[in-house]
Amino acid sequence: PRYIWLSRHGESQYNLEGKIGGDADLSERGWKYARRLKDMAEKYIPNHGSLHVWTSTLTRTQQTASFLPYPKKTWKALDELDAGSCDGLTYEEIAERFPEDFKARDDNKFEYRYPGGESYRDVITRLEPIIMELENQENVLVITHQAVLRCIYAYFMNVHQEESPWMSIPLHTLIRLEIRAYDTLVTRIKADI
Ligand code: G3H
Repeated sequence: PRYIWLSRHGESQYNLEGKIGGDADLSERGWKYARRLKDMAEKYIPNHGSLHVWTSTLTRTQQTASFLPYPKKTWKALDELDAGSCDGLTYEEIAERFPEDFKARDDNKFEYRYPGGESYRDVITRLEPIIMELENQENVLVITHQAVLRCIYAYFMNVHQEESPWMSIPLHTLIRLEIRAYDTLVTRIKADI
């Protein structure tokens, strides 16, 4: 069978503080996941000897991959949805400082574009080359961010792209997609940390 392996980065300092965007380091728990991910790859990825690991350019995905002894590739296109002028804020701060934006996003999360940043639709567009490349690869683990994984996941699950913003992609979970001729099977392997 052909598998695609997906994971969010481990919990970051910003995740702990409820802030979006930024380029924070992993939290202590996030580092624990990074170390555990090496054991999980050995245990669950049948041909892990030929695995390739893709990350974004951001620190938290590279730290999450840092214990994995496989060839790595960094893609700018895997960076998190750019929150523009809301980068580094909590959702409460956004609601307070940019109330109209907060409401606009609530009304249409797929199309809403942060000022100076991106929408989910924008992320899907920039992911096109990644998805084409993934279709051609045999054995890849993609370590990236929540919004990006929602888009990749929706694509392979054949879900309408407008539904991407609501896909559930938990932290500290290795997701296995089994790509079949007419559908995709999902297995979620939760890290015991
Ligand atoms: O900042 C990006 C978050 O990972 C995506 O969360 O689109 O639900 O706000 P959200």
